[in-house]
Amino acid sequence: MDGNGRWARSKSKPRHSGHRAGVKTVRMSVEKAAERGVEHLTLFAFSSENWARPEEEVSRLMGLFVEALRREVAELHRNNVRLRFIGALEQLSSGLREKIAKAEAKTASNTGLQLNVAIAYGGRWDILVAAKGLAKRIADGSLRIDEVDEREFTVGLQLSGTPDPDLLIRTGGEQRISNFLLWNLAYAELWFTDVLWPDFDVRDFDAALEHFCSKQRRYGHTGDQVEAVQC
Ligand code: FPP
Repeated sequence: MDGNGRWARSKSKPRHSGHRAGVKTVRMSVEKAAERGVEHLTLFAFSSENWARPEEEVSRLMGLFVEALRREVAELHRNNVRLRFIGALEQLSSGLREKIAKAEAKTASNTGLQLNVAIAYGGRWDILVAAKGLAKRIADGSLRIDEVDEREFTVGLQLSGTPDPDLLIRTGGEQRISNFLLWNLAYAELWFTDVLWPDFDVRDFDAALEHFCSKQRRYGHTGDQVEAVQC
């Protein structure tokens, strides 16, 4: 969800008003994803590296997460959305952690869109945590080295049990992954747009989905061996 700061600057507003405007785009994306039959949506809300931003911006962002949880959880629940948070959540304030735990518990048995929010998340950190989990299991004798395969490895990842993303959308003009779901994105289709996150609208969202639907996913096979994506 990149481009909030530039959006604010273009309107001579402080950066936090860009983040605030970004919440509206979050709402639209969640709504449209559910409507379009997307089963899992993962939002990169705050990276491990974002802690290095000015204290005031970090504190306002954390406040915005608390406020968004307070305002949106009931509506998400009504819409059968299941909420899950990933990242080094122990780094967050106890107030935010409590709200997160409540939101997850409240929506745990919902069967609609699974909405994952990554906060204090880094792809390398995720892989390290999984690797440490494997090392522990090997050390305590519950796993042998020759049993380590992709399936065992992914057990320890933050999104274990969730299918790998089919499509990555990045707004704001940069064409990089920026330490998002490094393991999980191995075969994702990538969609980069110059549109800044607060301006990203339903037409942009649908353009990204159409791009995905035009793809034939080969996973190393030849074109004749595979079918086009069914949308
Ligand atoms: C990156 O844009 C954006 C963020 C670090 C924050 C994203 C947070 C939101 C959209 C708030 C709402 C989120 C939820 C889940 C309720 P940037 O600040 O790096 O923009 P810039 O590159 O233009 O400076």
